[in-house]
Amino acid sequence: MENFVFQNGTKLIFGKDTEKLVGQESVVYGKKLLLHYGGGSIKLSGLYDTVLQSLTEQGIETFELGGVKPNPRVCLVREGIKLCKENNIGFILAVGGGSVIDSAKAIAAGVNYDGDVWDLFNGKGVVKDCLPIGTVLTIPAAGSETSNGTVITNEDGLYKRSTSHNTMRPKFSILNPILTFTLPAYQTACGITDMMAHILERYFTNEKNVELTDRLCEGALRTIINNAQVVIQDPTNSAARAEIMWSGTIAHNDILGTGRIGDWGSHDIEHEISGIYDIAHGAGLAIVFPAWMKYVYKHDINRFVQFANRVWDVEIDLNNLEKTALAGIRKTEKFLSSIGMPIRLKEAGIGDEHIEEMSKKGTEKGPLGNFAKLYETDVIKILNLAK
Ligand code: NZQ
Ligand code: ZN
Repeated sequence: MENFVFQNGTKLIFGKDTEKLVGQESVVYGKKLLLHYGGGSIKLSGLYDTVLQSLTEQGIETFELGGVKPNPRVCLVREGIKLCKENNIGFILAVGGGSVIDSAKAIAAGVNYDGDVWDLFNGKGVVKDCLPIGTVLTIPAAGSETSNGTVITNEDGLYKRSTSHNTMRPKFSILNPILTFTLPAYQTACGITDMMAHILERYFTNEKNVELTDRLCEGALRTIINNAQVVIQDPTNSAARAEIMWSGTIAHNDILGTGRIGDWGSHDIEHEISGIYDIAHGAGLAIVFPAWMKYVYKHDINRFVQFANRVWDVEIDLNNLEKTALAGIRKTEKFLSSIGMPIRLKEAGIGDEHIEEMSKKGTEKGPLGNFAKLYETDVIKILNLAK
């Protein structure tokens, strides 16, 4: 096991009606805040009104910036930074999914940075200190509610890039599974895929003697798999929605990554796809992950056999480990397809016209991944396997 430091300071407030506590949690950070949200789902569900009422009860002055798009854009981030600077706003409340939270984090980082905020994503600048943020999560997926990172798209060049800093981690996140009842089946499935991918990125490691975190990863994956069909068929099943919501947070708060070095190659490849084609991150991962698995399984066949056996109950064939490993990959792919995800580029309407460009852009700062290092030619081969 690797040495590690684990510190995740996000206060989590989980359960029914918890969104009503948003005012009292926010007021700790001042009497003026920016309320950041997406394309309108929170207005339709009534969450917007509940949040505003709770903020008003605490005497908080609220400035608003809605309109965050999935795959959030840097132009709106720039608007948010301007708004915060002009009005001396000291706290940002993100109400929505990973895109809204990531946009809020980027604004929080940009307010205290002198140059253009995109510098923080292309390596020209470094994040120093962020405004505090809080979140009310409406979709279990990206794990941004406790992570220290943000992913933003720049339409100039279609770059989707990330940056991270510990001060970017939300001070609190409110998680009420009932708020996820309104999620369409497709978004639910995208979220399920993303949280599974966050676990798989950590699971496929070269580190030995990581039994506890292996078992935790396997348990979390099995929980997600067991509850996935339930939430898709029965969207108002609160028990299953709660399991999925908590799994999404656990998948990315980094407890599952302790003592091990994760891979993250599939995520980097996916960001190239959603950067250019603007598809949902989870859908992109459903396409990339099985292809990545097929490309790298021979690197450590025993780990893939363990995955097949412990996550998918595939019986181990000691005379043919490759058969067992491939059965696990097939089951992963079949599961993703069964919840409505595309598992090939063409199912998402994507041809092979940008494969070389995506592979070049993705590896321009060096090879991707840690489990197996991926150079430009490897990424081309993976994307071809995903066609
Ligand atoms: O914009 P609104 O109207 O709110 O609609 C959203 C959006 O269209 C809708 N939605 C959210 N909650 C809803 C709802 N619709 C009905 N009822 C609800 N309760 O769902 C759509 C998708 O929302 P989005 O925020 O984009 O989803 P997600 O949470 O999957 O976030 C994806 C983004 O997070 C990034 C991804 O790359 C992508 O840009 N990631 C961020 C990470 C991080 N910061 O740690 C890690 C991840 O690996 C990921 O890369
Ligand atoms: Zn992800």
